[in-house]
Amino acid sequence: MRILSGIQPSGRLHLGNYFGMMRPAIELQEKGEAFYFIADYHALTSIQSPADLRVFSREVALDLLASGLDPGRAVLFRQSDVPEVTELSWILSTVTPMGLLQRCHSYKDKVARGLAASHGLFAYPVLMAADILIYDSDLVPVGRDQKQHVEVARDIAIKFNEIYGQALKLPEAEIRDSVAVVPGLDGQKMSKSYGNGIFLSEPEGSFRKKVMGIKTDSTPVEAPKSIEGSLILQLYRLVGTPAECRAMEASFQAGGTGYGEYKKELFRALWGHFANYRRRRAELEASPGRVEAVLEEGAMKARAAARVVLGRVRKAVGLC
Ligand code: ADP
Ligand code: TRP
Repeated sequence: MRILSGIQPSGRLHLGNYFGMMRPAIELQEKGEAFYFIADYHALTSIQSPADLRVFSREVALDLLASGLDPGRAVLFRQSDVPEVTELSWILSTVTPMGLLQRCHSYKDKVARGLAASHGLFAYPVLMAADILIYDSDLVPVGRDQKQHVEVARDIAIKFNEIYGQALKLPEAEIRDSVAVVPGLDGQKMSKSYGNGIFLSEPEGSFRKKVMGIKTDSTPVEAPKSIEGSLILQLYRLVGTPAECRAMEASFQAGGTGYGEYKKELFRALWGHFANYRRRRAELEASPGRVEAVLEEGAMKARAAARVVLGRVRKAVGLC
């Protein structure tokens, strides 16, 4: 089974990226042949500083490796090291109905948030379809906001196959319901662009400050607290054991404990969860050549796989 996912180097990675996409993707590396990439071509739709793009691309590589991506099992590479994907993207664009792209929420949302309404931003799902289809992917682990894009990839593959014969494999999205949308510090979806995130590489002081600053209601210390919609509990469930979560819920319902205590416990659990990440990240930062070597090897493997599918497609459409 081929598992594939990508993440844009458009900023530092946060807990939403980690629990929504990185952790599930890393767990899946045991289940099949995983291909994970840094979507730098995609990031050009929002980042126009070459220095930032370089820094963020390296950050994504470091964060994925430090979070447990094992380059012995999974292939890690930069999207732009496989330029074949842009050729496939063009070919796919010729069978992609305009209506399919016009229905995509992400384009409208991004323009509403102030991103330039470029052709690249509009055609982004076609490049994403090429990313997925060029590796004959079976499974695409992503957060819920990317579900529509995986469906578009599937629709494009179906359309292509109707016109040209069965050249493309149909992918499935894999979305973990429990972490489909990780809330940010304000309760909205955690996102790089909402300023409501806790970053994986967040230093201890600001990590603690952010957790202690989570907004809560004004229920008095002695009163029972609502577990429904509690941001503290939602974040705690990401890392607490089932018994720890049940204990916190019971304590909420019993009353007698202030939100500050729960936040301290939440900080302890979150910070502790990332102890291995911090150790591995420090090791990687101390040997910069290692990350480059992983990416180079990944590019070679990914490119070999991409060329097979692109060859099939070129033949199917009559380019050779
Ligand atoms: P952002 O919204 O911060 O720009 P991206 O759109 O680059 O994040 O998302 C990268 C990956 O992380 C995607 O698979 C996305 O679904 C997942 N992801 C991002 N934010 C969250 C979140 N708050 N909860 C769950 N998954 C998320
Ligand atoms: N669009 C995805 C995001 O913003 C990143 C991405 C690009 C991707 N190509 C992909 C994810 C292919 C999965 C598969 O998060």
